[in-house]
Amino acid sequence: MKILGIETSCDETAAAVVLDGTKILANVVSSSAQLHSKTGGIIPETAAREQVKALIPVLEETFRFSRFSNNDIDAVAVTVGPGLIGSLLVGVEAAKTLSFAWKKPIVPINHLIGHIYGCFLEQESPKFPFIALVVSGAHTDLLLVKNHGSYLWLGGTRDDAAGEAFDKTARLLGLFYPGGPEIEKFAKSGDPKAFNFPRPMIDSGDFDFSFSGLKTAVTNSIKTINKESLAIPDAAASIQEAIVDVLVTKTVKAANKFKVTEVVLAGGVAANQRLRKKMQMAFTGKVIAAGPGLSIDNAAMIAAAAYFNYKPVAWQKIKTDPGLHF
Ligand code: KG4
Ligand code: ZN
Repeated sequence: MKILGIETSCDETAAAVVLDGTKILANVVSSSAQLHSKTGGIIPETAAREQVKALIPVLEETFRFSRFSNNDIDAVAVTVGPGLIGSLLVGVEAAKTLSFAWKKPIVPINHLIGHIYGCFLEQESPKFPFIALVVSGAHTDLLLVKNHGSYLWLGGTRDDAAGEAFDKTARLLGLFYPGGPEIEKFAKSGDPKAFNFPRPMIDSGDFDFSFSGLKTAVTNSIKTINKESLAIPDAAASIQEAIVDVLVTKTVKAANKFKVTEVVLAGGVAANQRLRKKMQMAFTGKVIAAGPGLSIDNAAMIAAAAYFNYKPVAWQKIKTDPGLHF
């Protein structure tokens, strides 16, 4: 089955064609992140306008690359949420239009579930049951994934998401948006023990997270240091270490509690090499993460999720859903 995936939940405009949920036939991503770099973060209206500009060219490129026409496509899958409502609407309306014009089924997909399926596009698929840590710009969630379509949400962030913590602390250090890759780049030459930033809720008995205190701690540290003498690599390495330590500790606790032998890292922050390495060191089982290109937002993961959770809905019934429901 060939599924066309469309993903426009934030600042990436993406389309892909995936065969039987595992083989990528085309995967095109256009990002407006550089534009948001200038404003230090995403302005939702700007992101939505960029989605409008990019979507048709991205779809054209996807078809050119896959050498398919609409007749070859069996279904259209689209991210319906969570995400920025203006951005989401662009993809959802395009998917509805294609479904209507082509008379093909349409499959609505939750963005976070989509991220988990980025890992099913790698050579070796995860095996059920597994713990999924979904860490993106707006979400930090731990799930027990029992099977396709069977998820138990264990906990999530009470305030800032892990990606948001990277983005906001990077901004405090004067680095560009998106902050995650920037922090990771500077951290390579820094000392992770230079600053003892807090690891909030690391020992709480639940699977919730909190990252907003980290911003305050970084702000306070910067205040006490002459800005010129602030060693950015040391600060970046210490921030990264604090975030990674909390994510690793909670994920391993969840894996041990539910006696699973596999952990899946999904979402943009899963591209972080330090997170992957420390998770692998701390967990005795298998750690699976999609390659960096399939960790950040893309539409191949949406098409894959649709194949394994195939529940078509009439185009008239498709709604955007910025909430988190499993
Ligand atoms: O999943 P994603 O592409 O978009 C959302 O669904 O939000 O995640 C974007 C987030 C941003 O906060 C970005 O800073 C973070 O992922 N990110 C990283 C890395 N690459 C992207 N965080 C840490 N290390 C990275 N290498
Ligand atoms: Zn995402």
